[in-house]
Amino acid sequence: MGSIFRHRFGMLVPLLFLSMMFSSSPSSVSAGSVGICYGRNANNLPTPLQAVALCRAKGITKVRIFDADPGVIQSFSDSGISLSITISNGDITGIALDQNVADKWIGDNVLPYVPATSISSIAVGTEVIFTNAANISSFIVPAMRNIFMSLKANNLDSSIKVVSPNSMSVLSKSYPPSAGIFDPTITYNIIIPMLSFLSQTGAPFMLNSYPYYAYVNDPQGVPLEYALFTSKVGVIDSNSQLHYTNLFDAQVDAVYAAMAALNFSNIPVVVSETGWPSKGDSSEKAANTQNAQTYNQNLINELVRDQAGTPMRPGTQVEAYIFALYNENLKPDPESERNFGIYYADGTEVYPLNFYGGTGTVVMQNRTWCVARNDASNGSLQIALDFVCGPGHANCDAIQEGGPCYEPNTYVNHASYAFNDYFQKSNMDPRACNFSGTANLTQRDPSYGSCIFYARLPSSGYLHSPQAYYGFSALVALVLLLLLRD
Ligand SMILES: *[C@@H]1O[C@H](CO)[C@@H](O)[C@H](O)[C@H]1NC(C)=O
Ligand SMILES: *[C@@H]1O[C@H](CO)[C@@H](O)[C@H](O)[C@H]1NC(C)=O
Ligand SMILES: *[C@@H]1O[C@H](CO)[C@@H](O)[C@H](O)[C@H]1NC(C)=O
Ligand SMILES: *[C@@H]1O[C@H](CO)[C@@H](O)[C@H](O)[C@H]1NC(C)=O
Ligand SMILES: *[C@@H]1O[C@H](CO)[C@@H](O)[C@H](O)[C@H]1NC(C)=O
Ligand SMILES: *[C@@H]1O[C@H](CO)[C@@H](O)[C@H](O)[C@H]1NC(C)=O
Repeated sequence: MGSIFRHRFGMLVPLLFLSMMFSSSPSSVSAGSVGICYGRNANNLPTPLQAVALCRAKGITKVRIFDADPGVIQSFSDSGISLSITISNGDITGIALDQNVADKWIGDNVLPYVPATSISSIAVGTEVIFTNAANISSFIVPAMRNIFMSLKANNLDSSIKVVSPNSMSVLSKSYPPSAGIFDPTITYNIIIPMLSFLSQTGAPFMLNSYPYYAYVNDPQGVPLEYALFTSKVGVIDSNSQLHYTNLFDAQVDAVYAAMAALNFSNIPVVVSETGWPSKGDSSEKAANTQNAQTYNQNLINELVRDQAGTPMRPGTQVEAYIFALYNENLKPDPESERNFGIYYADGTEVYPLNFYGGTGTVVMQNRTWCVARNDASNGSLQIALDFVCGPGHANCDAIQEGGPCYEPNTYVNHASYAFNDYFQKSNMDPRACNFSGTANLTQRDPSYGSCIFYARLPSSGYLHSPQAYYGFSALVALVLLLLLRD
């Protein structure tokens, strides 16, 4: 049946279908330095396998979990995603005091799962210092050493790094960034041993950086735009004369400065958590969807930008984990705590984020997309595709082999992309989203990974004359006639 279209519409259509039918190689683009924290302090989340599928669809290649749950670690096997796992604060003392306990932890939580699951690092505790686990602070580094010894005994010490995430509170001074310095009460007993260990083992210093809290704690002193990466002026560091356009860079550099003050200059900073809540209680005005989307998208754009880095370390791309994948309903008050997720617990997105980085900031608004119905027949979708990508003049480049929307290589996916392009170019006229009843309007962004389904706000003017729709109907009638005749 394809021959009819080849005669009528030239080469584009046959190329499209050949590629649809004979190839299935997945695109290999990835979001690089942007990871996500997969917290599970909730009783209503999708399964770990669904979380893995979601991360893969979004192009996320690094994930952090806050425990060492066997089911979760197993779910990430052969996923192409590297996983950072965590030793809970309660296990640190035992591991620090007894090498056998460390060996058992590695035997139970790591050895059964590698190399199928790519474990990138083991975090010894979470923000132990200056928290309610502060009394175990002095056990962190001994525990890190014992875990390292266990990994070494299993030849895993070069692939799995041993780290320990800290909050900004380990610095007693972080402004201006060049004056960053560790709190003197922990410097000699904990920080220097930790930095020595990290330096010797080639592991990064893990920092939880939350410009949100810096802003909330000092809204007079910290401009919101500076926290959201949208400041037009930024801040000049009066010592170094370096220009800071955002608080995230300033926090990272304050840690570099604090390490340099102790003569450690070869330890990279990895941001083990950062994020912004999309909702808060009535006193948490800055916690809203628009700020959350602005912060996280600008963060991603900054991280994936070529030659990105911080003013103190230009060209050294910062690696960061966004907190968090899902909203977590069991987190304690305030409301913002439960609303750091990019996704709701039902798997729908709180706001769109492009993990590959984009240009500028997307502002949250109600948008409408046109997609193929998943109950439409392949034949009818093919007919519609022939029209849309041919005389309909939709831009179908993205669904050609090698294009960002080629995978999954299905009629529904390819038709959805093409239908939407046509629909948007038709100024979102609902009549341009029918295609013999094979299409459906939706308010849910169908974008995934690097495949972006464009959507725009209504404006005047139609790119397609109504004749285009009549033309399509006539074409369909003709095709059906010919098909029936065959
Ligand atoms: C630290 O404090 C916690 C909670 O108060 C307690 O359960 C734990 O035994 C203490 N650990 C040490 C090593 O003192
Ligand atoms: C760092 O190195 C310099 C130069 O070698 C030395 O003067 C200084 O005391 C060192 N500082 C620390 C904290 O070790
Ligand atoms: C977006 O949609 C929601 C729910 O349908 C509605 O409450 C809200 O007013 C809409 N916002 C805009 C800007 O149209
Ligand atoms: C079409 O869209 C409606 C409204 O969004 C939805 O309820 C329905 O499930 C969709 N149908 C198909 C087949 O995708
Ligand atoms: C329709 O095409 C999809 C691939 O796009 C294929 O998986 C499915 O089996 C086809 N359905 C029928 C009924 O041929
Ligand atoms: C969509 O197309 C079908 C079949 O051509 C037609 O019956 C239906 O009325 C159309 N719907 C709209 C809203 O135009």
